[in-house]
Amino acid sequence: MRGGYTETRKKMSIEIDITTGDSGWRAAKPLLTSVWPPDGVKSLPQDHIAFAPPDLRVTIDLDWDTVCHVGITRRTGTWNGRKVIIGGIGSVATREDVRGRGYATLAINAAIHTLTEERGTDFGMLFCEPHHAAFYEKLGWQTFNGTVYAEQSGGRTPFTALSPYVFKIKRLLREGTIDLCGLPW
Ligand SMILES: CC(C)(COP(=O)(O)OP(=O)(O)OC[C@H]1O[C@@H](n2cnc3c(N)ncnc32)[C@H](O)[C@@H]1OP(=O)(O)O)[C@@H](O)C(=O)NCCC(=O)NCCS
Repeated sequence: MRGGYTETRKKMSIEIDITTGDSGWRAAKPLLTSVWPPDGVKSLPQDHIAFAPPDLRVTIDLDWDTVCHVGITRRTGTWNGRKVIIGGIGSVATREDVRGRGYATLAINAAIHTLTEERGTDFGMLFCEPHHAAFYEKLGWQTFNGTVYAEQSGGRTPFTALSPYVFKIKRLLREGTIDLCGLPW
């Protein structure tokens, strides 16, 4: 799957693409490993968490270099025991030298647009560190105040390492128990 548009302004080429998770990995890898080096010296709350790979990737290329990435993971989970279709957003990253230009906003909005167009998704969900809360709240994301369960190596466990945020697509669920029925993203 591939779709997008190219805009050329002042000889600068900007392209936004949506690719399948595996095929987009080659383009996304240099950016993601520069933002989260595998042997990173900085310890992060998510360092010891096992994450699901994305099903789709939104990438923004600037002059043919991928400068921004958002992963999309589609998941059938449960809310208070009832089946829900969750549109997971993760691995949100912009190359350091081009931050603050709206690229992550553009890529997240493209991801939400894709999930909305697919029509099956009940709501978007992401997990972030507290210092990114203001960024996501500005984009319309809201705290999920209930309990989240996810799979980790020890089995099904409460997922508390990162703060959960939700985005209304068909439904807004902010309380209760969400089981991701798999790895987080
Ligand atoms: C968080 C991140 C993806 C933002 O990317 P970006 O392309 O710079 O974001 P945007 O340009 O779309 O930012 C939109 C707005 O949010 C603001 N913003 C960015 N990060 C913010 C933060 N942590 N807290 C509050 N506001 C923030 C920007 O200043 C901008 O404000 P403005 O609209 O008033 O100008 C980027 O800083 C990054 O890659 N960080 C490292 C990886 C990471 O931690 N990712 C988050 C995983 S949850």
